[in-house]
Amino acid sequence: RKKVTINTLRNLYNAKTPIAMVTAHDFPSGLAADLAGVDMVLVGDSLAMVALGMEDTNQLTLDAMLHHCQAVSRGVKGAFIVGDLPMGSYEISPEHAIKSSIRLIQEGRVHAVKLEGGAEMAPTISRLTSLGIPVLGHVGLTPQRASSLGGFRVQGKTLSSAQKLLADALAIQEAGCLGMVMEAVPAEIAEIVTSKLNIPTIGIGAGVGCSGQVLVQVDMLGYYPEGRFMPKFVKLYGDMFKVAKEGIEGYMKEVKERSYPEKQHTYPMGKDETLEAFR
Ligand code: KIV
Ligand code: NA
Repeated sequence: RKKVTINTLRNLYNAKTPIAMVTAHDFPSGLAADLAGVDMVLVGDSLAMVALGMEDTNQLTLDAMLHHCQAVSRGVKGAFIVGDLPMGSYEISPEHAIKSSIRLIQEGRVHAVKLEGGAEMAPTISRLTSLGIPVLGHVGLTPQRASSLGGFRVQGKTLSSAQKLLADALAIQEAGCLGMVMEAVPAEIAEIVTSKLNIPTIGIGAGVGCSGQVLVQVDMLGYYPEGRFMPKFVKLYGDMFKVAKEGIEGYMKEVKERSYPEKQHTYPMGKDETLEAFR
């Protein structure tokens, strides 16, 4: 497939064609996303939770993120790959962010980095983009800051919160972001903010008025046991956990009753004499 570049994304935005993004955290999930034809693949720090079983994204280190970016980028041939800067890898100074971003690009082979935050991150975003490092912003609910937001809460519900969201979006646009993820924002507010910007918004829990959508692949494919908490915006497009569990159950049953492996799963001998001699 043809490589998606920053120009492709720009053209989609100008044509008002929704941009489809999904996360990936390893080689097969990157490959599946790429072969499905998505425009953008995000190696999101949500992998801390969905692939590593951590309680939140803040336990994820830059080194761990790099390991996953490398795996995903080996599987993605066409989509535009964005890697999340984990908490602790970009906040201290613009230099800090530059160093971490270069590692994501050089070692992780991503095309752009994503960082959470609004106006306070504008100087960092400016430095990164001036050096030719494309940056995707992330506003609204910023999971790395969930504690200071009082949990995983919808943002932009009140007038002052909506005004702050717009100010942040404008500030990071001005700083040079190629676009921004907008997470957990009332659909009406997300649509208005989107209309006031000239770069794409990639919504997650932000309604259909955004310039594109992103979902966590493991969530949308149902690759988790029943009963796990799911945000309201997740729609199930698959039943991966059930498929995996039932497949393993089938295998286990056949192992226990010795119906697997069958003849076609085994290797034949060379010469009959060998077998006779060996006995
Ligand atoms: O980490 C992640 O998967 C994300 C998306 C939910 C936008 O940041
Ligand atoms: Na993230």
